[in-house]
Amino acid sequence: MSVSTTSCGSKWRLQCAMLLLAIMRACFADIRYSVPEETKAKHVIGSLSGDLRLDVKRLRVRKARVDYHGEKRYCGVDLDSGDLIVLERIDRETLCETTSPCILHFEFILENPLELHNIGLEIQDINDNAPLFPKDLIKLEISESATTGSRYKIASARDLDVGINSVQSYVLGQNGYFVLDAKISKERYVEIVLQNSLDREKEGEHSLMLTAIDGGNPRRSGSVTINILIIDVNDNGPIFSQAVYTVTVFENSPQGTSLLKVSATDKDEGANGHITYYINHASENTKRLFNIDQNSGEITAIGELDHEKASSYEVEIQAEDGGGQAGHCKVLVEISDINDNAPTITVKSVTNPIPENIPAGIEIAVINVKDQDHGENSRVKCNIAENLPFKLQSSIKNYFTLVSSAPLDREQISEYDVTIIATDGGTPSLSSSVILSFHISDINDNPPVFEEQSYSSYVTENNKPGSSMCSVTARDPDWRQNGTVVYSLLPSDVNGVPVSSFLSINGDTGVIHAVRAFDYEQFRSFKVHVVARDNGSPPLSSNVTVSVFITDENDNSPQILYPAPAGNSLMTEMVPKAALAGSLVSKVIAVDADSGQNAWLSYQIVKSTDPGLFTIGLHSGEIRAQRDISESDSMKQNLVISVKDNGQPSLSTTCDVYLLISDNLAEVPELKDMTYEDSSKLTSYLIIALVSVSTFFLTFIILILAVRFCRSRKPRMLFDGAVAIPSAYFPPNYAEVDGAGTLRSSYNYDAYLTTGSRTSDFKFARSYNDSTLPADQTLGKESKDQDSLVDTKDLNEVGL
Ligand SMILES: *[C@@H]1O[C@H](CO)[C@@H](O)[C@H](O)[C@H]1NC(C)=O
Ligand SMILES: *[C@@H]1O[C@H](CO)[C@@H](O)[C@H](O)[C@H]1NC(C)=O
Repeated sequence: MSVSTTSCGSKWRLQCAMLLLAIMRACFADIRYSVPEETKAKHVIGSLSGDLRLDVKRLRVRKARVDYHGEKRYCGVDLDSGDLIVLERIDRETLCETTSPCILHFEFILENPLELHNIGLEIQDINDNAPLFPKDLIKLEISESATTGSRYKIASARDLDVGINSVQSYVLGQNGYFVLDAKISKERYVEIVLQNSLDREKEGEHSLMLTAIDGGNPRRSGSVTINILIIDVNDNGPIFSQAVYTVTVFENSPQGTSLLKVSATDKDEGANGHITYYINHASENTKRLFNIDQNSGEITAIGELDHEKASSYEVEIQAEDGGGQAGHCKVLVEISDINDNAPTITVKSVTNPIPENIPAGIEIAVINVKDQDHGENSRVKCNIAENLPFKLQSSIKNYFTLVSSAPLDREQISEYDVTIIATDGGTPSLSSSVILSFHISDINDNPPVFEEQSYSSYVTENNKPGSSMCSVTARDPDWRQNGTVVYSLLPSDVNGVPVSSFLSINGDTGVIHAVRAFDYEQFRSFKVHVVARDNGSPPLSSNVTVSVFITDENDNSPQILYPAPAGNSLMTEMVPKAALAGSLVSKVIAVDADSGQNAWLSYQIVKSTDPGLFTIGLHSGEIRAQRDISESDSMKQNLVISVKDNGQPSLSTTCDVYLLISDNLAEVPELKDMTYEDSSKLTSYLIIALVSVSTFFLTFIILILAVRFCRSRKPRMLFDGAVAIPSAYFPPNYAEVDGAGTLRSSYNYDAYLTTGSRTSDFKFARSYNDSTLPADQTLGKESKDQDSLVDTKDLNEVGL
């Protein structure tokens, strides 16, 4: 009876009093019944007539009825049986809600006599309602960081039924996190308590079933689903899939080349799980080379990657989530080499110029070769053209030496351009080259060489002293002073006279000058040696023979040997009176010191006592009778003979020939002074005899000489021979036999030769002959030794 506890405001005091009265009436109701709610109509609640002891038959008459102050009647009286019956459905929850007990008050009225009975009908509750939560679904958001023991209120379930039929207990579906703390009380909520800490990353949502159960029979239950959404807390940092990433990329990869993609994950969600990537703790240099996409984690090369600068980079990458937690990883970027560097050649030392006599195997240059690439790309090979007298040797690592490998000759090749090509081992390979220019320096290794094996110079006698005769040329291919040729005469004698008194040579030009005038009649040729010497140190030289041939000039007029020239003595030939035409009367003997045409003599009678009586052989000089001599002819005949050589212009000499036509020497008038008129016959005969003897003797000797000359291949110089005849073949005493005889001419000639204007020249010639023509040797044998000095004229030219 909890109603009594109801408190009312003063305003409602009257109503409260009335309510109190009604309850009092109920309490003091005449009669009480109870019926479960929801009973079917016609259900008999109780027997009114029986309880009130009424006469059933009279009920109708007395107009028995049940009154209920309400819209519905709920109950009525069965007039036939006098029972109180249910008229319509009674819902306790509608009538009383949660009030308990639920009592409906009826009045049972009878008339005639009026009678009123209060009926209290208690509506008994039946469990016809299940517990019910205000919502079907409860959404709850709990931070994952919530501590254990945290409580969360859930609106409780209601059951319209009352008492035991109302909610008696709650059950929470099985879960690992929450337990129920349900004190069944007047509280309008139940609490769930967090028992284990939450992890959104493990389970982001929980669904719990909370069931309320009433105590009816059968029990009824109602449940609600509690969806618990775990709210993320940034309790996880980004984690990279690898601690260290390695990537290899070729150098020279274009900018923007993607290298790799790092990836970090964060179990948190939303901003807490949103990762941004950064390059961390990198040098400025590295930052200039690499870029990471903040969102995708893709690393790209943005600078020029050069293996030669760095072969690898270590980049630290940081990943940061929205809540500020960070994770790290390392990226190793290896730059692999590309053959992008040609080898570089550095000449470390070079010998220039190279002496041409350098032996093989001498280092002349040292070069250093480098290639900045790596591995095979940096393996450098060096080579040079093969046809050079050099070779490359590789000595120490990266160093090559150029050494001489074959003899050099500056005179053939004075300069070498050596192209050194360095090639690396890449594919394709790169190469570079350098040209070394070498000059070959001179060594005096070539002597001057004359252009000709020997030189001959022909010079006409009586040349002007100082005139140039010929020139010699020698070439020396060496350089500068090593190739500068200086000419000189090799000191020697020509017939005991230093050659320098004959010739001089211009040391620079090689032009040979005559120092003096030559005389063909003195000597016809000689040899000198010219030395060509270079200016090297030591100098080299060579020599050549220059043969000087002196050519004849018609500078000598014929010399009459017989008869002796007029004025010196009288020479008279005896001509027999009986001489017939053609008989030899006399002979003019003349020589010419010149040679050849210049010495080719011709004889002519220019004047005669009796022209037509005598004739002279043009070249033989033989005077013959042209006709038979007759008595009428004058006894004394005088002939003027001109001897002329064949030179240009020709020179001539004349001589007188006295002929005495007589058979008796006594007829010769005067021997001492021969005239045309008188001569004693005896003397004439004597003279004739002597002349004949001497003529024949001379002829005989000349014949012998001629034979000897003919036997020798190269006859003696005529001039020498002519000179030699008198001294060599005339016994000295023989010449003295008759001072006035024809032989005297020989003697005289000898005297003339030794006392003439050209004595010294002749002496020179004699001394020359003395050494080369000893008296006891044959001329022919000697002449072989004197080949070059002997002219080849034969005896005929003398006119014999
Ligand atoms: C000439 O040759 C000598 C060695 O024989 C050498 O030392 C010198 O340098 C050469 N002179 C020139 C001008 O080349
Ligand atoms: C002249 O040359 C020859 C060889 O050509 C040599 O034997 C001789 O010694 C040389 N004479 C001089 C004086 O140089």
